[in-house]
Order: sequence, then C-alpha cells, then structure tokens
Amino acid sequence: MPFVRNSWYVGAWCHELGSQPLARRILDVPVVFFRRSDGSPAALVDRCPHRLLPLSRGTVVGDVLQCGYHGMCFDGSGECTRVPAQSRIPSNARVQSFPVIEHWGMVWVWMGDPALADPARLFRGLPWGEPGWTLNLGPYTHVKANYRLLVENLLDPVHVTYVHQSTLGTAAMADIPIETTQDGDTILVTRWTRNSPAAPILQRFGRWPGNVDRWQYYWWHAPAINVVDFGAHDVGSGESEAARQAGIRMYSNHFLTPETETTTHYFWCQLRNFAPDDETVSREITEQFVMAFDEDKAILEAVQQASAEPLMTRPVQLGIDAGAVRLHRTLDRLIEAESSDQGSPELARNRPGAAH
Ligand code: FES
Ligand SMILES: [Fe+2]
Repeated sequence: MPFVRNSWYVGAWCHELGSQPLARRILDVPVVFFRRSDGSPAALVDRCPHRLLPLSRGTVVGDVLQCGYHGMCFDGSGECTRVPAQSRIPSNARVQSFPVIEHWGMVWVWMGDPALADPARLFRGLPWGEPGWTLNLGPYTHVKANYRLLVENLLDPVHVTYVHQSTLGTAAMADIPIETTQDGDTILVTRWTRNSPAAPILQRFGRWPGNVDRWQYYWWHAPAINVVDFGAHDVGSGESEAARQAGIRMYSNHFLTPETETTTHYFWCQLRNFAPDDETVSREITEQFVMAFDEDKAILEAVQQASAEPLMTRPVQLGIDAGAVRLHRTLDRLIEAESSDQGSPELARNRPGAAH
C-alpha cells in the first residue's frame, strides 16, 4: 500500500458538501460523503452492497443515503435501515463507514484504523481564525500526479525561480543556499534572500522603495500537509518570529489527499497579515495562486507522465534535494510501520469489536 492510512485527510471543502451526495476516491477507495439532517457529515464506501451501484448516485433522505437503484437506505454508520419490499434486513446488508470531522472549513476523513481516529491528531499548526489574519480559499484542484510529487514540490524553494517567474520568484533567489532540518515527522526547509527586490506578489502590498529581506519557510507535516510561510520586510529587520510578523507575511497552505497512485486532490488556501478583510485583495491573491499552481500542475503532470515510461535516464540527486530525500524516507518509514502494525497486539486490541 503506497499510502499512509492512519491520518486525517481533507476529503472536501465544507461548502462542497450540500444536499447532494459527493463522490470522491481517497487512497484509492471509492468514498461517498453526505450530510445528515442535522448537517453533520458522514462518509461511506461508495458501493451499494446489493448490485454495487455507487451510492453517490442515490439521494439523501433525512439521515440516510438511499440507493438510486432499488432504494436500500444506509445511515451514516453504514447500517442498512430499509430494504424494499421486505421487512427483514439481511445481517450483511451494511457498508463500511469512515470517521469524518469538520475543521477549518474542511471535511476531514480517516481512512485507516477507526480506533485511532483521534480528533487531537487534526493538524492545527496555523493561526486559523485568529485576529489579524485574513483567509482566501482556492478552488478544489485535481492534479494528475502522485501526491509525493506534490509534497516534494512544495518543499522545494529552488523551483520557484524557474516555474513561477511571473508571481512568486525572482532571479536573485536562484543560487542562495537552503537549510533543511527535521523534527520527527516534520521537515523544514528555509531560505533567506537578503537585500534584493521583493517578489511581485509581495511588492504590490509592501510598496517598498528599494530592496528587502525575503524569507521562505517551507514546512512539511507527514504525510501530506505543506505550509509555506513567506514574506518580506525592510533590509536588516532580522529573522525572529516578531520581525517576520511585522513584515508583509503570508502562509500558503496545501492539503494534499491521494486519490489514486497517479492522481491527487489538492486543497489550498492562504492566510495573510495585510489588507485585513479586504475581499478584493482575497480574490486577487486567489487568482495569482491559481496561475502559480497551474504552473506547478503542468510541470508535475509532465513529470508523472514521464516517470510512467521505462527509465531512459538514471535520476540524479542534487544538493537541493536534501528535503525531498528526508521526506521520502519519512513516508517510507510511516508506510512500513503501518504495514507491520497490521498484526500488532495494540492495534488488534483497539479494533472495534475486539475483546478487551
Ligand atoms: S443496487 Fe442498491 S438497492 Fe439495488
Ligand atoms: Fe510551485
């Protein structure tokens, strides 16, 4: 299994999930999301156990999802509540359900062992909803590339100069050394570009008369959340958290959810400490990032396609790949640990229905 399963993944933006069921393949499992009458989300395997019609083709009726073929009904836990033309419900008439939770405007789903689906494990490392921060949401984005290519790209400051010349990159950054550190399952790649022109997207808001010091802090949180803290301030202002917060600063946040081995759901948004509550600015930032991420998408889909072919050139590792190397090692370790956990006594004990 090429995925880490025991983790909360974003399945949808909350606003995507209305009165209709929503089909989305996650970690190569067909999932259907729907909302019950009290608005709470539920997630089931998107297959009716009768004739295997995807349940997402059915209808939400109160608290249940009604199959669009013969009308069997399933509640949010996957139990069958109604069978047409008979009163007895067969004992095997149920579908698997997945833990879901709404957090930060997103519906998060747990595809692994349900006994481990602790809300305390939700990602919380952002000033989301805090005073002084304004949010803009990107549209749901689909990328035809493996999620590893995306998280690796988002931990890679060097591509910015070449891929994003019109929005985020400047030529001055190209040859500045980067620093990579790791703390458990989190990797941080940093780069400071000093005394040079601001990136176009920041200069618009900072309106500095001359050069600036610019930072990029690329965080990766296993398995698939990337946060880029970037910004600029007057030359010589220093590296401290307070100094960065006094500058023009943005968190660009990326929640990647593997769809299949070769495709990824991409949810992204930014938080900024300038132009508070200005919706025109929010819209403009979203437009700029749509442009920038379309640039990444084109590159990553081309890389995915090329790597599906027989190897024509042996891949070369460069110094700039230190973050990527650690990232892949960390993912390999987590995936390996989950596969050897399958028989672990702790997991067996925690499984629903297990004797205690
Ligand atoms: S296929 Fe769903 S009820 Fe028959
Ligand atoms: Fe990029």
